[in-house]
Amino acid sequence: MDAIEAVLTRKSIRKYTGENISEENLRTILEAAVSGPTCANTRDWQFIVVRDRETLNKMADANGRPAEPLRNADVGILVLGDLDRAFSPAKDYWIIDGAIAGQNICIAAHGLGLGAVWLGTYPQAERVDNLKRLFDLPDNVIPHSIIALGVPAESGREKPPFEEDRFHFEKY
Ligand SMILES: Cc1cc2nc3c(=O)[nH]c(=O)nc-3n(C[C@H](O)[C@H](O)[C@H](O)COP(=O)(O)O)c2cc1C
Repeated sequence: MDAIEAVLTRKSIRKYTGENISEENLRTILEAAVSGPTCANTRDWQFIVVRDRETLNKMADANGRPAEPLRNADVGILVLGDLDRAFSPAKDYWIIDGAIAGQNICIAAHGLGLGAVWLGTYPQAERVDNLKRLFDLPDNVIPHSIIALGVPAESGREKPPFEEDRFHFEKY
């Protein structure tokens, strides 16, 4: 699948067959995670890659009801911001850098024929605190989001139609 097709056809996938993602594909997904742009090239992320079923269930507990897809996912990737590496004049760029990493994970998974769904964590304080405790994170490391991954057992929701009126050419 080429890049344009992967971007245009990606959908959130929340049900998985239970089959394993190969180590090779997982490696490609992790390379995609760190291949996006970051503010001033700070590369201000860290990642926790989880395959252990008990830990995946604990992550689902920590991230609230919408994180249920983790309970049947093969892999969960917790995207973390590393404030010690963040762009010092405007550290909040870590949030954007984390989002780009998360999206790259989703696109790469889809390009490999796998399914992914983004599970929102930051800025919901309770989820952030729960995950900080679960993984015993240092103060400078902030949970950003979790991406659940697996072999797809559903095709996802229909894409909405292209909305011409969202685009404003030359002026609003
Ligand atoms: C910041 C963010 C948080 C999200 N959180 C959740 C979530 O907690 N649980 C979930 O099932 N989907 C979550 N999603 C996925 C969205 O629901 C999904 O992208 C949206 O419904 C559009 O569907 P699509 O991804 O198939 O195009 C999240 C997406 C984003 C970008």
